[in-house]
Amino acid sequence: MGRQWVWFWKALALILLITANADAAGTIKVGVAGPLTGDQGALGQELKNGAIIAVEEWNAKGGLLGQKIEIVWGDDQHDPKQAVAVANKFVNEGVAGVIGHFNSSCSIPASNIYRDGNVVQLTPASTNPQFTERGLWNVFRVCGRDDQQGGVAANFIAKKLKKTKVAVLHDKTTYGQGLADETVKALEKAGIKPVYYGSVTQGEKDYRPVLTAVRQRQPEALFYGGIYPEAVMLTKQMRELGMKTVFISGDGVWAKEFIEIAGKAAEGAFITFTPDQTKIKEAQEVIQRHKQKFGTAVGAYTVYSYVAAVLLFEAIAATHSVDSVKIAEHIRATKWKTALGPIQFDKKGDVLVSPYVVWEVKNGKFVELQ
Ligand code: ALA
Repeated sequence: MGRQWVWFWKALALILLITANADAAGTIKVGVAGPLTGDQGALGQELKNGAIIAVEEWNAKGGLLGQKIEIVWGDDQHDPKQAVAVANKFVNEGVAGVIGHFNSSCSIPASNIYRDGNVVQLTPASTNPQFTERGLWNVFRVCGRDDQQGGVAANFIAKKLKKTKVAVLHDKTTYGQGLADETVKALEKAGIKPVYYGSVTQGEKDYRPVLTAVRQRQPEALFYGGIYPEAVMLTKQMRELGMKTVFISGDGVWAKEFIEIAGKAAEGAFITFTPDQTKIKEAQEVIQRHKQKFGTAVGAYTVYSYVAAVLLFEAIAATHSVDSVKIAEHIRATKWKTALGPIQFDKKGDVLVSPYVVWEVKNGKFVELQ
């Protein structure tokens, strides 16, 4: 063997040794899942940014259990089937926990895979009650629930706006239909029976036929259960059709993209969401860091995603393990101090306190109503 070859083999052996050692040191993998691309990609980005900030912060102070934290991304494109595929991938990769998913229609089917695969799941954003109502030991949600959110929307329509002729539309998803139905339930308690109840299909571009049918019932208000891309089309096309109907929706529409894309058509819309996070003193640091790193304000669920990740890391650190049962028990038993303020979970995995308020789109901005 020539001299060059001897050097070649020595160098290769050294590289292999270094790589093997790096693998032995390993990383702690954490799954982060949501609609990372596609028409809800902006919402996925919110979730991503929160998780990235949390991971960078923890890795800077040494990671977890002596290892660096590594994010494994899962793009579910808000498709339930894709979410199940992502969940299976996470389980096979041996993630120590999952932050996600975003949409209830994804979080719920994925949660069964995580339960069977022994993985703790913390959703920052899925508000459908069924996520925690099925008695799974491994699920937590940092945000609130639609039975509460729908009640706030209905109360606002009945008591504040004093509208009695209300139309209701939803996007046929677990979240959209669930929120619409909770709102209807609460409206009916207030003596209001919707003058129209119907649905739209996500991703379609022409909602004028359904809006024309809605218009025939002459509603004063339209409640929509769904996400912002369809809310953009609905508000724009309502105004094109000359409808002056007040538009009301939920957290899935609390996105700056709704206002940016719908423009004038978004003005005067009312959206239920949590109170202003920029006023929470514990949230200031992560809001600032987000601004520095990404150059933008946090989205609706960025801080929620950050908090979900930190709770998982804290629980792994406190239990000195990646044993999911121990992690889940610790999360459930602890009174947390978080960037969203104090948080405590009930047996089901819901937060004990999750207030909803109403926001109005005024002059191109969300303004919290008092
Ligand atoms: N809250 C919305 C959902 O549950 C994002 O799907």
